[in-house]
Amino acid sequence: MSVTPLRLGVNIDHVATVRNARGGDYPDPVRAAELAAAAGADGITAHLREDRRHITDEDIRRLAEGLDIPLNLEMAATDEMLSIALRHTPHAACIVPEKREERTTEGGLDAAGGHNHLAPFVAELRNANIRVSLFIEPDPAQVEAAIHLGAPVVEFHTGRFAHLEGEAQAVELRRIADAAALAAKNGIEPHAGHGLTFDNVSPIAAIPQLAELNIGHFLIGEAIFTGLEASVKKMRELMDLAR
Ligand code: PXP
Repeated sequence: MSVTPLRLGVNIDHVATVRNARGGDYPDPVRAAELAAAAGADGITAHLREDRRHITDEDIRRLAEGLDIPLNLEMAATDEMLSIALRHTPHAACIVPEKREERTTEGGLDAAGGHNHLAPFVAELRNANIRVSLFIEPDPAQVEAAIHLGAPVVEFHTGRFAHLEGEAQAVELRRIADAAALAAKNGIEPHAGHGLTFDNVSPIAAIPQLAELNIGHFLIGEAIFTGLEASVKKMRELMDLAR
């Protein structure tokens, strides 16, 4: 079976979290994005949340204008976020579910139950040549829903996998692998992300159909100890080794 090249998207949200803890301008997520790119990131991911708890509108403007590598904007399916995406036309937009009270994106999008709400967002983003991705659970019903919505990309939520251990984790890994195979068979490019670390990335990176992993919180945390360049490089090496 052919193995797709695996890209690394570095999510820089939590550089902005640290900045916003004090207000002001530093640490600057755009500088982090440039460093990550120099260290081997293939893309930069940023989530503009409704409450602007980390990334701001100005960050998105600067990232969209200044980056030399593709920007993946994570966004909720709201009119406000759609108009921001259409204004900045990032390379990609990943539609995520969003609840104000959650600490992070806790589950995948209900692409099946939310078809009628999501369809115009997928269509408008596609019309603007933005590569649309749906952040879903590794569930065949969700992959089928993404097919019906005409999404060219899905990103599988690896949060459950990251929190499980032993046999339960192996079962979840098989679900992700099966969902990736189903997506690829139907012409959808599968990605994965959430909760990935040096310790758990290898079996995910070994799934041959996956084309991109989006990784943030761990890499930014690790950068405190080793620097961002080293943390991105090590993740890149682990991904390449697993391939
Ligand atoms: N992919 C998506 C769609 C996400 O929402 C997030 C978290 O913002 C990530 C990937 C990265 O997750 P983590 O920060 O846990 O690596």
